[in-house]
Amino acid sequence: MNDPLVYLNGEMTPLSEAKIPVLDRGFIFGDGIYEVIPIYGRKMFRADQHLARLFRSLASISITNPHSKEEWLGLIDKVMAAHEADDQMVYLQVTRGVARRAHAFPKDVTPTVFIMTNPIVLPSAAARENGVACVTMEDKRWLRCEIKSISLLGNILAAQNAAEHDATESIQFRDGYLTEASASNVWIVKDGVLMGPPKDNLILEGIRYGLIEELCAANNIPLQARRITREEVFAADEVMLSSATKEVLAVVKLDGKSIGDGKPGAVYHKLYAAYQQAKAA
Ligand SMILES: Cc1ncc(COP(=O)(O)O)c(C=O)c1O
Repeated sequence: MNDPLVYLNGEMTPLSEAKIPVLDRGFIFGDGIYEVIPIYGRKMFRADQHLARLFRSLASISITNPHSKEEWLGLIDKVMAAHEADDQMVYLQVTRGVARRAHAFPKDVTPTVFIMTNPIVLPSAAARENGVACVTMEDKRWLRCEIKSISLLGNILAAQNAAEHDATESIQFRDGYLTEASASNVWIVKDGVLMGPPKDNLILEGIRYGLIEELCAANNIPLQARRITREEVFAADEVMLSSATKEVLAVVKLDGKSIGDGKPGAVYHKLYAAYQQAKAA
């Protein structure tokens, strides 16, 4: 399906025909927020949590939510139903809207709403079995990383850094402490304890963050949210990534050095199995 139907401001239209005015503040300023929601077997996974984060993101940049929860679910369903794939990844974006270019918020502007979907692309069988390589870099992004903002320049530069090193992700550190990767949260395991950075303004709280909390509780995996040093990451028994498209994914090499025994570890295997069960539930 190379020209799927997408939703733009009240209309379903082929992607190739979806157009926005150049003065849209998303285009001019990156003034907007987005969500990425996985769909398995034509069912949204963690829909409530994704919509709650969407509403938080909108509130955090003072865009009036243009739709009720039921309306959002209906719109996403419509876009999903128009696509032939059973497993999809819905992308939705809300910008402040179209206005004369001036930095401060314009008055009486209507938000732009765009929803598209694509078949979900999950990690390859080889990546699952063997784990992946990542590189590290200093986190130079702004201090509001908890907002799922479409202004993604810092994340783009981090992703490009990974691509240039044939790595899956750049794992970032701020002042010597682990934050997150360019498009995923990062976890370490030491002596059977899973650890992740605290949910604060330095990371985006992935929907998988909450899911992993639940899976840990249900599977007797001790979990700690705390600041994690660079040394602790390199000395970890396991490192893993989580995101809508990576689900959970083991990192076995960091800056060319092996993590643990260089293979996906026991906690990863447990969490991956639990994740697949949660998807199927
Ligand atoms: C910067 C960043 N952190 C974390 C995540 C993980 O979020 P989620 O689990 O909701 O996919 C993402 C997802 O794209 C991200 O871009």
